[in-house]
Amino acid sequence: VIGELARHSLSPVLHNAAFRSLGMDWVYLAFPVAPGDGGAAVAAVRVLGLEGLSVTMPHKGDAARAVDRLSPVAGQLEAVNTVVRRGGDLVGESTDGDGFLDALRVDHGFDPAGRRCLVLGAGGAARAVVLALAGAGAAEVAVAGRTPDRVAAAAALAGDRGRVGTAAGAADADLVVNATPVGMDGSGQEDSLPLDLDPAVFGPGQVVADLVYAPPVTPLLRAARSCGAVAVNGVGMLVHQAARQFRMWTGAEPPLEAMSAAAVAALLAQG
Ligand SMILES: NC(=O)c1ccc[n+]([C@@H]2O[C@H](COP(=O)([O-])OP(=O)(O)OC[C@H]3O[C@@H](n4cnc5c(N)ncnc54)[C@H](OP(=O)(O)O)[C@@H]3O)[C@@H](O)[C@H]2O)c1
Repeated sequence: VIGELARHSLSPVLHNAAFRSLGMDWVYLAFPVAPGDGGAAVAAVRVLGLEGLSVTMPHKGDAARAVDRLSPVAGQLEAVNTVVRRGGDLVGESTDGDGFLDALRVDHGFDPAGRRCLVLGAGGAARAVVLALAGAGAAEVAVAGRTPDRVAAAAALAGDRGRVGTAAGAADADLVVNATPVGMDGSGQEDSLPLDLDPAVFGPGQVVADLVYAPPVTPLLRAARSCGAVAVNGVGMLVHQAARQFRMWTGAEPPLEAMSAAAVAALLAQG
């Protein structure tokens, strides 16, 4: 994994647990890479003979420009979280959106097809989620956020089902997704709900997903639960997006339980 703060990434824990679980003689390492050096780090994959990379902040755009070709999703997002070596080519992929869908479907039995969705935030993760929800057949994907041009650009990824929404729209959505860091440990907003959402807005029958995984229960998820909604934290997305990477690099079926257990243990150890 390359990233400015790669040493803090949980990805090595997940992938190395998967290798151990399958008895594979592979290793996954964290390389802290300074802003501006992402393209050079991607080029090094070829020179060093690595099978691939995970890419985190702030290199996702640079990686998209440095690979030989992009998957359709990575091309639409202009961002890459996974580099895979296929023959002589480096291919840029994005597993966040599908990993999010896997977490909803596999872990919670929720299918977004035909559902009204509201995404809070308009950054990289929000864009991946908007595109994935539209691809999964959501009836509507509204985006609410604090920077209007980014909100409009994220909503446009859902085509004719995308629109600019407001936090108040959470009352009518089947699925509400927090894709801002509000509520995350270290965000400075640990006690807040994103976009000043009314904590009493939710009700039974709704699913509220927070992409934040530390803490495991954010103020948003606590509010959702106390209103009778289903609360989903970001651990499932973290595990499933990594599982998709694992399959791409190794061709092996990812050991989801080992990866999930390793993620939960590492998060508990972080306190
Ligand atoms: N579970 C997982 O596997 C997973 C994967 C990816 C990301 N995440 C989590 O998702 C969150 C977003 O990540 P990202 O990569 O998308 O970050 P990002 O690209 O920096 O985007 C952050 C978004 O949140 C908005 N935002 C930040 N602070 C806000 C505030 N106080 N009020 C309202 N909006 C605020 C930003 O608004 P502006 O546009 O106005 O700046 C931006 O739209 C992070 O907490 C990250 O840890 C989880």
